[in-house]
Amino acid sequence: MASEDLYLYFHGLLLPKIVHSEDSLNYFRTFRVQDDDVFVISYPKSGTTWMQEIVPLLLNGGDFTPVESIPNWDRVPWLEETRAVLVMDKLRAPRTMVSHMLYHLMPSTFSSSKAKVIYIARNPKDVLVSSFYFHQMASFLDDPGTFEEFMDKFLAGQVLFGKWTDHVKSWRNTDLGDRILYITYEELIQDLRGALERMLRFLGRQMSEEALDRVTEHCLFKNMKNNNMSNYSLVPQEVMDSSKSAFLRKGIAGDWKNHFSPELEAKFNEVIRKEMEESGISFPWDEE
Ligand code: A3P
Repeated sequence: MASEDLYLYFHGLLLPKIVHSEDSLNYFRTFRVQDDDVFVISYPKSGTTWMQEIVPLLLNGGDFTPVESIPNWDRVPWLEETRAVLVMDKLRAPRTMVSHMLYHLMPSTFSSSKAKVIYIARNPKDVLVSSFYFHQMASFLDDPGTFEEFMDKFLAGQVLFGKWTDHVKSWRNTDLGDRILYITYEELIQDLRGALERMLRFLGRQMSEEALDRVTEHCLFKNMKNNNMSNYSLVPQEVMDSSKSAFLRKGIAGDWKNHFSPELEAKFNEVIRKEMEESGISFPWDEE
């Protein structure tokens, strides 16, 4: 399918038509944020689905009912997607939602509210690899071509939600103060329990040691992969073909090392370094 049939543009960002429409974007723009809302913000392929599992469990004291009975996209809906209008009224307070939008495009009631935000970032090299496989299995995205071709598109921002660098810069430069918590995918991989504790504190919640152990265990890749409410197995094969690549694919940090040649790595580093150099932002993976 030609890419104009697959995507629509929102402020220059490419969004897949399968889950975005003019109506869904109007809903997004005019959404009335409430003070107790909780947002998870991510650039695509940075751990969004993982957070759709984690945050409800942290907020409800470790009750597995929602994560075992409601698909992730309705449990913690994307505010900009077409399902938001259908499920928002069904969410119990505090409402929890995800978004891939840039900070300055958020609804006007967002910054004036007291809503909390968890921003999850991931090494862009692993984001690229994850996205490459996602484009192979998702029929609603364009064919990624070769890995090198896809890298060029990624670096030029001709991919879902634009450039990775614009996304992270936009969300690091906010006036949200202590309303925003920055976390990384790598931190979750390294010490999931510790990361859950950090999020709990930020959300002002408590949980018994036993409950936290159970939540941690449940959210491990090997276990989450088997949760049909979170592994996208409910999506028809014509839409997401898991025989090409599973949605919960590898779930590790550093898979990029299996995909980047030294030349591609040098090219990637150079572009990202230039775009980040005046931002003053550093990430744990910068030294890798
Ligand atoms: P990989 O393709 O590298 O495996 P998103 O949800 O933002 O689209 O991100 C998808 C990525 O997060 C995939 O990465 C997926 O496997 C990974 N992921 C999802 N749940 C995870 C978990 N419990 N542990 C580790 N990685 C997870």
